[in-house]
Amino acid sequence: MGKNILVTGGLGYIGSHTVGELIAHGYTPIIIDNLSNSYLSVLEGIEKICGVTPIFYDTDVNDSLALDAIFKSHAIDSVIHFAAFKAVGESVQEPLKYYKNNIGGLITLLETMEANQVKNIVFSSSCTVYGEPDHTPVDENTPLKPATSPYGNTKQVGEQILNDNRFTNTIALRYFNPIGAHHTAFLGELPIGVPNNLVPFITQTAAGLREKITVYGNTYNTPDGTCIRDYIHVVDLAKAHVKAIDYMAQNPNNHFDVFNLGTGNGNSVLEVIKCFESVNNLKLNYTIGAIRQGDVEQVYANSSKANNILGWKAELNLDVMLYSAWKWQLTLN
Ligand code: WQD
Repeated sequence: MGKNILVTGGLGYIGSHTVGELIAHGYTPIIIDNLSNSYLSVLEGIEKICGVTPIFYDTDVNDSLALDAIFKSHAIDSVIHFAAFKAVGESVQEPLKYYKNNIGGLITLLETMEANQVKNIVFSSSCTVYGEPDHTPVDENTPLKPATSPYGNTKQVGEQILNDNRFTNTIALRYFNPIGAHHTAFLGELPIGVPNNLVPFITQTAAGLREKITVYGNTYNTPDGTCIRDYIHVVDLAKAHVKAIDYMAQNPNNHFDVFNLGTGNGNSVLEVIKCFESVNNLKLNYTIGAIRQGDVEQVYANSSKANNILGWKAELNLDVMLYSAWKWQLTLN
C-alpha cells in the first residue's frame, strides 16, 4: 500500500473526491471526519468507485487526544486538511463558532503534527481571500483584501498561521468555485438544508425540491449584469491535491506556498443557468432578485503557477460540470 495520507474532513464534498483520487494514484488515505457536515454513506460511494473502503475515524480535529492516537496508530506521511465550517452567511451569524472550529482545529492539528514529526500539510484555502479584486483574473500575487466574512477570515488567518509555523511544509490551495460530481454519480455534493451555493440550488430546483432560483442581482458591471465566478469541476480540484502531495514529497525543504485552483474562465450566473438548461435539456424557473450582501462582482483565476509548478491544469468544462451535477442529483431520493 502507498504512503499514508491523513485527510481531515475526508467525507465532505471536496474531501471525498480527493480520497478517491488519492487511492487511484496509489496513496492510502486515512479519513477523519466528525460528520457535522457529511454522511457516513459517502464511504460507500468511495468504495463503489475505488473498490476499497478507506480507514475512517469518526473524530473531531479539535480532539487532540484522539487525533494524537490516530497519528500514533499510523505512519502518516502527509496531511490534507479540509475539516472546517464553510458557510459564509452562517459565519456572519456565528463568528466565534467559526474561529473556534476553523482556527482552533488547525492549531490542534499543527501541534499534533509536530508532536509526531509529520511536516507536510495541504491546506484547503479559498479565493475568498482576495475579496473584491481590483483586476481579474487574479494570480497568487494579487493583494489580499480584508475578508468579507468570518469564514473568509479563517482562511486568511489560517494561511498566516501556516506561514508563521516554522515546523511544517505547507501548500495552501485557493479554490475558486467547486461544482459538479464524479462521473459515476457515486459521489457528489450533499448540502445540508437549503443550499447556499448556486449549483446545488439549481439542481434542487430542477428536481422540483425548490420552487425557483433567485438570481442575486443583475445590475453588476458585467456583460449580463450578473456576478462572474470561476467554476471548477470538483474532480479537477481533487486531482490538484494529489499533485500537491507529490510535489511536497519531491521538495521536502519547502516551507510555504500558495496556488490558485481555477479554470481561468469566468462565467456569469445567467450563463451557468443557461448552460445547465442546454446541457441537460430542461428549463429552469428563476427570477431576478436583490443582490446578496458580501458577494463580489467578479473573480476568476490565473492558475498558471499551478500549471507550471504542480503540473496541474483543469481539464473539464462547464458543460461536463453541470451535466455531472444533474446526473448526481437524479440519484438522490
Ligand atoms: C455563486 C454566484 C451568487 C445562489 C462561496 C464562498 C467560497 C466557496 C464557494 C467555500 C454568486 C449567485 C448563488 C443563489 C445566486 N465556499 N447565486 N442565487 O459565493 O461565489 O462562493 O461558495 O469554500 O469561499 O464564498 O458561491 O455558489 O454561493 O454563489 O444568484 O441561489 O451565484 O450571488 O454570484 P460564492 P455561490
